[in-house]
Amino acid sequence: MRTIPFGRPIIKEEEKKAVLEVLSGSILVHGPRAEEFEEKFTNFTGGGYAVSVSSCTAALHLSYFYLGLKPKEEVIVPAQTHVATAHAVEFCGAKPVFIDAEERTGNIDINQIEKNINRRTRAISIVHFLGMPVDMQRINKIAAKHNLFVVEDCALAVGTYFKGRHAGLHGDVGCFSFYPVKHFTTCEGGMLLTKHKKIARKILRQKAFGVDRHVGERKTPGIYDVDMLGFNYRMNELQAALGIEQLKRVNGFLKIRKENYELLSNGLKDMDELSLLKSSGGDYQSSYYCLSVILRNSISKKRFEIVSYLKERGIGTSVYYPKPVPHFTYYKNKYGYKKNSFPVASIISNSSIALSVGPHLNAEDMEYMVKCLKEAIIKVR
Ligand SMILES: Cc1ncc(COP(=O)(O)O)c(C=O)c1O
Repeated sequence: MRTIPFGRPIIKEEEKKAVLEVLSGSILVHGPRAEEFEEKFTNFTGGGYAVSVSSCTAALHLSYFYLGLKPKEEVIVPAQTHVATAHAVEFCGAKPVFIDAEERTGNIDINQIEKNINRRTRAISIVHFLGMPVDMQRINKIAAKHNLFVVEDCALAVGTYFKGRHAGLHGDVGCFSFYPVKHFTTCEGGMLLTKHKKIARKILRQKAFGVDRHVGERKTPGIYDVDMLGFNYRMNELQAALGIEQLKRVNGFLKIRKENYELLSNGLKDMDELSLLKSSGGDYQSSYYCLSVILRNSISKKRFEIVSYLKERGIGTSVYYPKPVPHFTYYKNKYGYKKNSFPVASIISNSSIALSVGPHLNAEDMEYMVKCLKEAIIKVR
């Protein structure tokens, strides 16, 4: 039987060698590799300033910390996302104001943003859902009108372009994740990308205790000052070494994702009981994180049976994301959101199955998934 895990990092000899080299030396943090990785990341995205960090969550937290977000202030947050997008706002004691998803893509429903902006609103955050870009022109227009900071959650958006520009370079900051199932990995790890030099310079210090100079700049040991608060959100040299090697493969990974996605979506497009979220087209270039199918009509409540059928045949699946964030207990208890308050995000959470198109899979795997999913649907119909 085939085994098709939802995600499997592709770590080869080059990555192992690079990591061992770090271990054989004496610099494990504060070294040259983190800086090299930052530079190579901006080469890949085609611009901006990059700050390597310990995770995407750290990058999101640093974004609001930089902004000076305070209690009683508010941030617009998509309801259909990972909890980290909202948690980062909560870390600062501020309030995420959730917006439902649009049906076509699962991205934030931009039409609902303005009516939720008030004098307490400081920022708009968006997530490029499953790698499909948000219309950043419309987001930036609203942000400019109301003088708001724009945070792009790019956790699934390595290789996402809107109007030819890479995700993370449209808003004020973009936050990336290199967690193992993502487009490439540094184990845990993330990157903050910004087109503003001023933001990058300050966050570079805020990610490392607020110390006023980098280790390399400390001519005499013990001579430095701390004039602001800061965290320990640094990326270490082992992670950076992995990242540098993985970046060399990323264009190949993205090509395979696209090919797999096309095979899978073509194979499933005639199934009446499935609707597929829209991916690329025109100004919108997806990173093809995965293919999410929404179960419709008579099978919409049969997800568990279908997922089990696939699992028995070696096919791993996932759900992006299992609940609209405001429906998780923490947010429900705190803000009292009702069950029916985010209808589109709820449909995606309750009735979708995410299928992998990752570079660990090939055309035969896609064929096999199409065959098994069709069988499962016939069985539960
Ligand atoms: C949209 C989104 N934002 C943020 C995160 C958190 O990323 P990390 O695990 O790197 O902190 C995730 C993780 O999957 C995510 O999907």
